[in-house]
Amino acid sequence: MNNVALVTDVASLPIDYDMALLLDACRAAGLAAEVRDWEDPTADWSAYDAVLLRSPWAYVDRLPAFLAWCERVDAVTELHNPLRVVRWSLNKLYMADLAARGVPVVPSAFVSPDTDPPAAVRQFLAVHPEAEEIVVKPTVGAYSKDVQRFVRSLEADAAAHVARLHSDGFVALLQPYVESVDRDGETDLIYFDGVYSHAIRKSPMLMPDGTVNVPTFESRTPREADENERAVASAALAAAGAHLGRVSWIFGAGFGR
Ligand SMILES: Nc1ncnc2c1ncn2[C@@H]1O[C@H](COP(=O)(O)OP(=O)(O)OP(=O)(O)O)[C@@H](O)[C@H]1O
Ligand SMILES: [Mg+2]
Repeated sequence: MNNVALVTDVASLPIDYDMALLLDACRAAGLAAEVRDWEDPTADWSAYDAVLLRSPWAYVDRLPAFLAWCERVDAVTELHNPLRVVRWSLNKLYMADLAARGVPVVPSAFVSPDTDPPAAVRQFLAVHPEAEEIVVKPTVGAYSKDVQRFVRSLEADAAAHVARLHSDGFVALLQPYVESVDRDGETDLIYFDGVYSHAIRKSPMLMPDGTVNVPTFESRTPREADENERAVASAALAAAGAHLGRVSWIFGAGFGR
């Protein structure tokens, strides 16, 4: 493999803080890497040995177009990740698949558009009396888009957000707010070929007053993952591998700690 497209889009490239580093690393490794917009109609994807999905985050608003594009690319060259990994990993319903294989996940309720939002939120709060706050988010999302935090007393606002996600065509996901995220942030573990490499800390995104932080370069810092975190991440990787079958793929895991 010599000739690689690193895929982004116009809106996302300015906030993809890893792209410049990746481009340098590719070039240092002797790869002819180019940054390309998945929405660029003039791109000839068959000209690349591999097409690597890096930051095509506009897909959250254009999912059918993005998946159709992935299929077109997959037909003419090597897409990373492979199509079925892309399909599986861009929908947080994968949490249910991981949970079914014994991986500890944040308790998650999926609320489809045929469900009454106030009733769904009421039921979730009843099942989680310990949760002082809950999070409402779309099952397909990126970069904290449309992720919101609500205290119990704002049940009606949480239901209104579920209704908004439904009207945008999304299944909504309800979770208890994991309080340790306020103190410790979130930990992402990076593995290469199934072997733990390193971890990063992501600072909390959802502020207690309801505002959502914009991720910056500084909001991610290096950190160590302890044994428990590595065990959970390894279990998640094994479960994902078992679910998807034997494929070569890349998967990022983020955990509150
Ligand atoms: N249940 C939760 N408890 C605490 N914090 C949460 C919870 N869910 C989400 N968050 C916060 O909101 C951020 C974005 O949520 P999440 O990762 O689920 O959505 P996303 O849109 O896929 O974001 P990204 O692409 O950045 O991973 C998290 O990084 C975390 O700071
Ligand atoms: Mg995340």
